[in-house]
Amino acid sequence: MSHYQKPPELYDGLRLHQNENTGGCSPRVLEALAKLRADEIGFYPPYTAATEACARYLGVTPERLALTNGLDEGIMAIAVAHLRPAAGGLIPEALVPEPAFEIYRFDTAVAGGRLVQVMPKPDFTFPLDDVLAAITPRTRVVFLTNPNNPTGVPTPLGAIRTIARRVPKEALVFVDEAYAEFAGETFIPDLPSFANVVVGRTFSKAWGLAGLRIGCLVGAPETLEPIQQAVPVYSVNIAAAVAIQAALADPDHLRHYLRQVAESKALLYATCDRLGLKYWKSAANFVLVNAGDRTAALVDGAAARGVYLRDRSTEPGCAGCVRISTGIVEHTQRCIAVMEEVLCAAA
Ligand SMILES: Cc1ncc(COP(=O)(O)O)c(C=O)c1O
Repeated sequence: MSHYQKPPELYDGLRLHQNENTGGCSPRVLEALAKLRADEIGFYPPYTAATEACARYLGVTPERLALTNGLDEGIMAIAVAHLRPAAGGLIPEALVPEPAFEIYRFDTAVAGGRLVQVMPKPDFTFPLDDVLAAITPRTRVVFLTNPNNPTGVPTPLGAIRTIARRVPKEALVFVDEAYAEFAGETFIPDLPSFANVVVGRTFSKAWGLAGLRIGCLVGAPETLEPIQQAVPVYSVNIAAAVAIQAALADPDHLRHYLRQVAESKALLYATCDRLGLKYWKSAANFVLVNAGDRTAALVDGAAARGVYLRDRSTEPGCAGCVRISTGIVEHTQRCIAVMEEVLCAAA
């Protein structure tokens, strides 16, 4: 297995390569952090208030929610809980419709599971029949993302229900909703009918808290229990636990960002149409653009001008593709100016 290639630490320009909120968090978060007392930092963190705030936000009771140190930690815990080879020799299988968030692949390998990839259709619509055909008695986790990363294309809730009904009884269906705020759609209301489904959420994207590392898993308590065993007991720090409450108390900050994202996507689509670039309509805060044989010129030329984009051309089905965060309108406009400059120079 090749190791996860963490994107380089580029903080001296415009970061449009990791789907972060480039406008940052709510000012209320900074106020709450500034009020933290020395003794609060001296103690192991309490989680009741932060868990209740997240549960209220997601419309569930607190026992159906587990905080994690970023959703990344929740995904690793799922792999550790469900994808370790069993004593009898069975190698658990993780089913991943591609292209997908590459962490699923790496965490599956770390746990010792076997990766079963389902290759994408050219238009990136969800390959339900192929996913169903790839389910085996050894399937233990199905990793689904709605909307998907890196395509931004939605995964139909009906397809998730069908998969959840068809997997072996030991299997878990994980629905990664890292970008759900942008899509306005969630599987959470379905969870009471599907005890084998866990939804993952993050506060890194729409809520602008990536640097603090906080996310959560939502599901039936008995389904969460074995996963929580694989999460260190104090993995979420006090700053994140305080910040999440302050962030959720400022929904206007989120609403503002969602409006900016919608406007940014429209601007980028229009630019792609003008420049003759193919793209996929996105339900997230980024757009996948096919720059064909101009991909390297675009990514390198933009980086030289201080705008960082994510080359996704080696991901399955993504030859020639670049992923561009579409958040704050002013940042998108800067990106568009750079794209026009680079691509016209490369033409
Ligand atoms: C689909 C998906 N899931 C999970 C994550 C990880 O989120 P977090 O920052 O909460 O670890 C990301 C981040 O890029 C993502 O794109």
